[in-house]
Amino acid sequence: MRSDIAIDLGTSRIRIFAQNKGLIIDEPSVITVDLETDAIIAVGQQAYEMVGKTSDRLLAAFPLSGGVITDFGLVEAMISTMLRNVVSSGIGMPRAVACVPGEITEVEKRAVVNAISSSGIRKVCLIEEPVAAAIGAGVDIENAHGTFVADLGAGTCDMAVITLGGVAVSRSIKLAGNNMDENIMKYIKKEYNMLVGKNTAEKAKINTGCVIKGSRNSTYRVKGRNLVTGLPSWVDLHSEETIEPLLEIAEAIVHAIQDVLEETPPELTGDIYSDGMILTGGTAQIPGLAQLISNATKLKVRVAEDPAGCVVRGCGAALKYIDINSKNPNTVNPITDRY
Ligand SMILES: Nc1ncnc2c1ncn2[C@@H]1O[C@H](COP(=O)(O)OP(=O)(O)OP(=O)(O)O)[C@@H](O)[C@H]1O
Ligand SMILES: [Mg+2]
Repeated sequence: MRSDIAIDLGTSRIRIFAQNKGLIIDEPSVITVDLETDAIIAVGQQAYEMVGKTSDRLLAAFPLSGGVITDFGLVEAMISTMLRNVVSSGIGMPRAVACVPGEITEVEKRAVVNAISSSGIRKVCLIEEPVAAAIGAGVDIENAHGTFVADLGAGTCDMAVITLGGVAVSRSIKLAGNNMDENIMKYIKKEYNMLVGKNTAEKAKINTGCVIKGSRNSTYRVKGRNLVTGLPSWVDLHSEETIEPLLEIAEAIVHAIQDVLEETPPELTGDIYSDGMILTGGTAQIPGLAQLISNATKLKVRVAEDPAGCVVRGCGAALKYIDINSKNPNTVNPITDRY
């Protein structure tokens, strides 16, 4: 049976939604290749578990960075390996809607379209990530009504005011969850003379991180290598200690949100003032972040339900526009045909 698909090609995770089936893939955007034979050893979760643990012969890589493709060949191989499993499960894939962050170049958009279409997709349409996030958070984007959405991911944070199916004002910054992980690594090195891996830093952030004092009260045992003795070592990282490394990124997010608010036309500002703001993306779950944004903007801030799944759900819901737009080109149109 024919089933269109929606793809959220994120910096940290790739999510694929199939019409009538729902979410069929939600895995880390990682691929492991054998550098001598170019063979693909693993993709997704299996490849993620190899990050930082490979031999010289293998490369376990995240082929996207800051929301854009940094290694085209690896992204293409990763998507086609994942989609091959989808094809073998009996789903044909004629058309796809994929999201792209705001403010990326035409060349970067083209790379996304090419990477997807090389896996046997007949037509690829693109949607801007914050618009997809808004749809996925349950917003009716077709009204002449302003909605403020901030999609806080791993490689980018995209903030936008959406109205009539499109973006009125937006800002995209390449500071997000991954930079929080890096800051935790730097903090542990500085405070405890200990080196920890990226995956460990991410686990510490998810399990104990926060950006406002008192918003979390837990500890997480972080294991790594002591730089002085060279021996395996551990520290118990407390939530309060994570505020310093995480706050730098949280404040950059707040500033970008303030910039967008300053540029928003007054009629739309009125809508945002009454409705508040919606946060989506995995990083929206950091305890205290919604409160920090609310304190700085004096707006109500709500974290969407299943925030990390909003974009792919929105892309999935946007599949309907492929047919609506071909029958009636004068309707609100959040997607653009690319192929
Ligand atoms: N419970 C949690 N608390 C804090 N951070 C989290 C949590 N769960 C996931 N994250 C972080 O959210 C980020 C992933 O979010 P998301 O899946 O929205 O990103 P992405 O779509 O892959 O990236 P991007 O949109 O930037 O390309 C990672 O940095 C991850 O560590
Ligand atoms: Mg994303």
